[in-house]
Amino acid sequence: MMRATNPVLAGLGVAAAALAALATEPRVAVAGTATGESTYQSSCVACHGADGAGVLPGVPDLTSTDGPLALADAVLVKRIAEGFQSPGSPMAMPPRGGNPGLSDEDIKAVVRYMRQEFAIR
Ligand code: HEC
Repeated sequence: MMRATNPVLAGLGVAAAALAALATEPRVAVAGTATGESTYQSSCVACHGADGAGVLPGVPDLTSTDGPLALADAVLVKRIAEGFQSPGSPMAMPPRGGNPGLSDEDIKAVVRYMRQEFAIR
């Protein structure tokens, strides 16, 4: 695909393509086009972090064996869709991670993604 053999030129090509994509892609995921990964990266990563360990106080570690991912899919999908705050928690999770454009299918896909990606350590 990339014709340039010089890695600097190749990198510039990739950067230009990324900028072009940013200029034309819609910001909010359109139902049916998002993958679990793209949904996580757009709507969840800011609080949960790239590795799922959580980057803000009150955000649970999704990689822990007895953490939230030990719960059933239906429980997780409902809590992600409706928002969630456990008793005494310093911070609530907003419904759909704050992205009303997420469909129920997007949420199911992101749960599958988290289960694959954040292998219990
Ligand atoms: C604004 C920050 C924020 C965003 C964005 C966010 N979360 Fe959360 N999430 C939280 C917090 C805080 C909690 C813990 C709430 C509590 O226990 O009171 C949480 C809890 C969870 C839990 C555990 C629920 C449970 O039963 O304990 C899961 C799973 C989860 N989030 C998934 C997601 C997914 C998927 C997204 C993206 C669609 C997302 N979160 C976006 C802050 C966020």
